[in-house]
Amino acid sequence: MKHDDISITDDDDIVISTSRLTKAFGKLMAVNDLHLQVMRGDVFGFLGPNGSGKTTTIRMLLGLIRPTAGRAIIFGMDNAYQLSAILQRVGAIVETPVFYPYLSGKDNLHAVAAASGMRSGSASNRRVEEVLEIVELGTQAKQAFRNYSLGMKQRLGIGAALLSDPELLLLDEPTNGLDPAGQFEIRQLIQRLSTLGKTIFISSHFLHEIQHVCNRVAILQKGNLIKQGEVHELLQQGEQIIVRMNTAGETEQAITLLQQARNQGLPWITLAHMDTNKQNISIIRVDAPRTRSAEINAYLARHNLFAAEIRPQEGSLEDLFLGLTMPPASISTPPRPGMAALARDSNDPQFGN
Ligand SMILES: Nc1ncnc2c1ncn2[C@@H]1O[C@H](COP(=O)(O)OP(=O)(O)O)[C@@H](O)[C@H]1O
Ligand SMILES: [Mg+2]
Repeated sequence: MKHDDISITDDDDIVISTSRLTKAFGKLMAVNDLHLQVMRGDVFGFLGPNGSGKTTTIRMLLGLIRPTAGRAIIFGMDNAYQLSAILQRVGAIVETPVFYPYLSGKDNLHAVAAASGMRSGSASNRRVEEVLEIVELGTQAKQAFRNYSLGMKQRLGIGAALLSDPELLLLDEPTNGLDPAGQFEIRQLIQRLSTLGKTIFISSHFLHEIQHVCNRVAILQKGNLIKQGEVHELLQQGEQIIVRMNTAGETEQAITLLQQARNQGLPWITLAHMDTNKQNISIIRVDAPRTRSAEINAYLARHNLFAAEIRPQEGSLEDLFLGLTMPPASISTPPRPGMAALARDSNDPQFGN
């Protein structure tokens, strides 16, 4: 092909790489200067509130819309020039897939296979059966699509995307609108697909679910990438140690001490502030690695303060997101304002649940 020299990389492990990928709608920068890197075998979470540019990015990756600037390299090929070669190796759900309501799930998959040019015959039949098993619709394969639950419909959509046995799956908010059971089934399906060796790119505004299925994430806000990395590394950054004292007076003393601790040989404490727990009891949140709780205990004890409770807590992407999207905090910041900060960016309260 004439544009073969555009193929940049022969690094087989990079599945998606975008550079300066940008989309403006008039004056609105829907996606701004995006650098993403998705590696083979990743379950890559593409996170952000509604309107942050997730769908726009996925549409650019799939060549459905043209970037204003920048480019997307998929499987080492530039999607502006080698789109059809790329799409042969990609399965995607961007909008809710359209199926025939009166046909069964199985017949719908046959219809999709035929429409996408798969030759009918035993190989195609076998693939439909395989896919029905993967998405766990084997026993309901003969039910009419219109009687499927929303979760089953969504799984059939993923099944349709899997028919061509793609290496890469792009799923735009696949759990949107599903009840918790339906969300759980999708998460399980994603894990199953990952063990089958697929690279999965999944967008979501549910931080919580991403944390549990993805190994890497990118966090998008108003079209800008604000963080990208390994989930476990990001979570380490969000680790805290919760300290509860017996009295209000001790709590006051302890927080003062902990706020000074950085200069007293405990440099790994980045922040200490008051909060209340679910029982409305005052606690101190110390931003520090979980493994440091004994040292905090000893430090307080050296000052004759004996904690009622010291509990390491793993990080959450929600805390990380709040930390990234709020003004820089000093060591004596007042309690976090909770979800209010997110409400400005998202009209969907589920983001950050
Ligand atoms: N075709 C379009 N024309 C104009 N604005 C658009 C279009 N598509 C999306 N947008 C705007 O771009 C921004 C990002 O949208 P989108 O990518 O759909 O976000 P997300 O998928 O994260 O919810 C939003 O402000 C949205 O209103
Ligand atoms: Mg969207």
